[in-house]
Amino acid sequence: MATWLVTGANRGLGLEFARQLRARGDEVLATARKPDRAEELRATGAAVLPLEVSDPDSIGALAKALSGRAIDVLVNNAAVTDEDRKIGDLSMDAFRRVFDVNVFGTALVAQALLPNLRAGKRRLIANISSQLGSVANASSGFSYAYCASKAALNMATVKMAKDLEAERFTVVTLCPGWNRTDMGGAEAPLDPKDSIRDLIRLIDGFTVKDSGRYVQHNGKALPW
Ligand SMILES: NC(=O)c1ccc[n+]([C@@H]2O[C@H](COP(=O)([O-])OP(=O)(O)OC[C@H]3O[C@@H](n4cnc5c(N)ncnc54)[C@H](OP(=O)(O)O)[C@@H]3O)[C@@H](O)[C@H]2O)c1
Repeated sequence: MATWLVTGANRGLGLEFARQLRARGDEVLATARKPDRAEELRATGAAVLPLEVSDPDSIGALAKALSGRAIDVLVNNAAVTDEDRKIGDLSMDAFRRVFDVNVFGTALVAQALLPNLRAGKRRLIANISSQLGSVANASSGFSYAYCASKAALNMATVKMAKDLEAERFTVVTLCPGWNRTDMGGAEAPLDPKDSIRDLIRLIDGFTVKDSGRYVQHNGKALPW
């Protein structure tokens, strides 16, 4: 049995992580911005903790609440997107909001939970990115801030992987594929059940040799 911490677990892919991990008997520390409204998450048997990823005080409070607790796998899942798809639509506010959550928040959650991860058996950080963060595959039509934030998260992942190599951490950046969630929309081809089953299987199999990789849910490497 392993202990996982999953951010943004009250809906979407984070909730599916909690469901599947609890169903096989793993311990899940699941975060939500509004724990009192996270009924579906609580029903999985996960422990629900408050976390606003863009607020350093909230991240600090989470680390304090978990002080001394070993965590095997951190899944940095919480993220936001926006609709600014054309150069003329861009605004500083939207860019900041997306970067605060998807990049700064994600990196600071990893930083704050390092003592817990050091005490764990896996020392594994899985950053949930997107194929939209691939510079090599970039196309027009998607949110500027979201794509740029996931490219920045990919770089932060590689930095963490190198930084923590001597401590035998495994830090990876993963794309779940296009899924039917609030973010992915109803037209998405993938059912979160399948995508998260694939991601859990991948994460289970990762070793330090995989650290720094950028991989899709089906196991295929993505071009940076
Ligand atoms: N769905 C897709 O097709 C797809 C494709 C590629 C990558 N991804 C990635 O997969 C991950 C999960 O996506 P999803 O489709 O499940 O998204 P979602 O349905 O929109 O759910 C996002 C989750 O993140 C939480 N969150 C948002 N802002 C937060 C903040 N500031 N602090 C803490 N939690 C926050 C949300 O909490 P609230 O309920 O409080 O807002 C919610 O639990 C994301 O990293 C996303 O970029 C998704």
